[in-house]
Parts: sequence; structure tokens; C-alpha cells
Amino acid sequence: MEEAVPPASATVVIRAGSATYPFTLASGQLGRIGTWREAVGTARTVAVITSRPVAALFPGALRAIAEAGARRVVLEVPDGEDAKTLQVAGRCYQALAQARFTRSDLVVALGGGTVTDLAGFVASTWKRGARLVHAPTTLLALVDAAVGGKTGINLPSGKNLAGTFYQPERVLADDTVLTSLPVRELRSGLAEVIKCGFIADPAILDRLPDPARAQARQTQRYLRLIELSVRAKAHLLADDVTDRGLRRHLNYGHTAGQAIETASGFTLRHGEAVALGMVYAARLCELLTGARGITADTQDALNRVGLPTRLQAAVSFEQMWDLMQQDKKVSPGRPSFVLSPRRGTATLACMPQREIARAAFDDVLRPERR
Ligand SMILES: NC(=O)c1ccc[n+]([C@@H]2O[C@H](COP(=O)([O-])OP(=O)(O)OC[C@H]3O[C@@H](n4cnc5c(N)ncnc54)[C@H](O)[C@@H]3O)[C@@H](O)[C@H]2O)c1
Repeated sequence: MEEAVPPASATVVIRAGSATYPFTLASGQLGRIGTWREAVGTARTVAVITSRPVAALFPGALRAIAEAGARRVVLEVPDGEDAKTLQVAGRCYQALAQARFTRSDLVVALGGGTVTDLAGFVASTWKRGARLVHAPTTLLALVDAAVGGKTGINLPSGKNLAGTFYQPERVLADDTVLTSLPVRELRSGLAEVIKCGFIADPAILDRLPDPARAQARQTQRYLRLIELSVRAKAHLLADDVTDRGLRRHLNYGHTAGQAIETASGFTLRHGEAVALGMVYAARLCELLTGARGITADTQDALNRVGLPTRLQAAVSFEQMWDLMQQDKKVSPGRPSFVLSPRRGTATLACMPQREIARAAFDDVLRPERR
């Protein structure tokens, strides 16, 4: 007998240009047949793109998809960043062709941001666009990667260099996925949450959880944080799907952060690097505007959840600076570096002069001598 479906805890309506879709947040919904019946609709085939470790964690979700009325095929891709390659996308296309997958069939992304990025890319390019539903399983994917329609794969010359803007039909957000997530991954996702606090909604910063405590005892806190972060992101992208206006505020901490992530040889998680990028942006803002207290406020928020606030990995200023110049979102001479002069606000500034950029690095990021 099928279980009754409790009402969703919250729904955020995402408006992205001409597309509108629901981000439904409900504990336990990924294991419910009713959730999937509604999501599958008239599709005859559902292709679930996931990695082996994630598939092993969510047998209930895979079972519920199989019982939702359509034929289910599972496309297992490598775990983590190794999924985001042209070769893996090519293998997905082959599997879809074998399954005679049509545009009215449905791609489901079950996994973290690497899976939603790859599956979004595959769905957007398969026959020029198949149906897509995201079922994010990491905090980072819940609050960021599954929302807003950016898809991407990596090329030998750089991360996320090939990609599309393609919105899913819905995002099925289920906070119970967090119970199995390692603390380091939780913290990585919290960096994007804290970012939303600084650029858009300061209330977020008063609700930060302690990731070292069991998630089960903090369910309400995570649910609310996910909702607030997604609302903040939805507000910024509503009229700027393609990153030319307000959406660029979401890049706070990312210009320096992504440079640091690359220079560290990806030994840092994305959120750890963004945390360092936010400390750097805060200090830069103080140096450029004379404001005070922003760096301390940023370090305090990051310390509370156990994110790094000073470099441990061997990354030099020169490496960071060179990589920042190559950032695809940086346009020389035009405001493209995001600053947050006050909690809940963001503004764009031109890339700083090299001497100021170095001073900020030396002040807050340079590893302390032992
Ligand atoms: N499209 C966007 O707007 C956007 C935004 C931010 C980040 N991203 C992309 O997201 C990617 C990073 O995503 P991520 O941090 O989720 O990494 P990920 O997808 O690699 O997942 C991290 C690890 O967590 C494991 N995992 C997933 N769910 C789990 C669960 N519930 N319990 C236990 N383990 C679980 C995975 O197996 C993996 O090993 C990057 O490639 C980044 O470029 C995209």
C-alpha cells in the first residue's frame, strides 16, 4: 500500500528568465513513490544519472523511481569531479541512445554538484533538450549547484569550460540526505550558505549550525538555512539568468576562492576555498573603502562552522593573482570583483591594483610561520 504524502515543508518558486519551477523541500521525499510519480509524469523512460557511492546510499530513492510508472535505467558515472568530462558525457549519450530515450523522457540527477552539473549538461544537449529533475544529495548541491540552471563539464584546459544554461523542471530537496554526509562536505556547503548571508540575507548568519553535531538533532535548522539560501539565490537570478547583472553577486568569494582551489591542486574542497576567498574579499574591501570589522565578522562566521580562514596549503600570492586574471568572469577595467561592505549587501568593484591585492593576501591569507 502506498504511504500518504505529507505536505512539503517549504516550496520556493524559482523564476529564471522565462522558466519557472518549484524547489520543494520535504524531509524523506526522495524515498516516496508519490514524489516520483508526480515528477515522472508522462515520461516512458527515466534515466537516473548517479555515481556508485551515491546509488549505494539511496536504494530507497532508486526503488521509488523504479516503481513510479516508467522504465528506469541507471547511468552510473565516476564519483566526484571525474564525472564532469566529455568522455563521461559521451558514455551517457550512448546509454540514452541504447534506451531510445526521447525528449519527453526524463533525466534525473541523483547526487552532489558534480552529478547535477554533468546530468544538466547531458539533458540540455540530448536532442537539444530533454526533461530534467534534480535530486541533490550534498548541502552544496542543495543550496547552490541544483538551482539556477548552470551546467558544466571540465576540459583539460580548465574547470567548467564547457557548459549551458538549462533549468530543471523541479528540484526535489530532501534534508535527510545530509545524515550520511561527511562533516567536511557539510562544511563545504555551509560556505555557500554563509556567502548568501553576507551578500543577501544576514538572518542566515544568526542560524548557523554546528556541523560536528549530529544532523538529526539540527534538522529544523538545516531546513530553514537551505530555504533561506535558495530564496536568496532565487532573488538574485530571477532577472539575470545568464550572469550579466545581479547574479554576479553570487560570485562573492569565488574570484580568489577558485584561484586558490586550482592553485592548491584541488586538495581544498570548493567551499573551503570559497571561505578563504571571502576572507580575502573582506580584507580587500577594508583596504579599498576604509571600512572596519568586515574581516573579523567573516572570520567569526567561518570559524563557527569550522571552515578555514587562513591558507594551510602552499599557495603563493603570485599563483593566486595569475589565476584570478584568467577567471572567465573577470573583465579587465570593468567592475567584476564582488565586495560585501555590510552584512546582507554586495557591490561590484574593478579588480584591485596588484599592490593592494598583495597587501590583502599578506594580511589575512599568507600561512603563518611556525
Ligand atoms: N552549477 C552550479 O551552479 C554550481 C554551483 C556550485 C558548485 N557547482 C559544482 O558542484 C561540484 C561540487 O559539488 P559537491 O561539493 O556536491 O561535490 P560532489 O558531487 O563531488 O560530492 C562530494 C562527495 O560526496 C559524496 N556524496 C554525495 N551525496 C552524499 C551523501 N548524501 N552522503 C554521503 N556522501 C555523499 C559523493 O559521492 C562525493 O564523493 C563542482 O564540480 C562545482 O563546480 C556547480
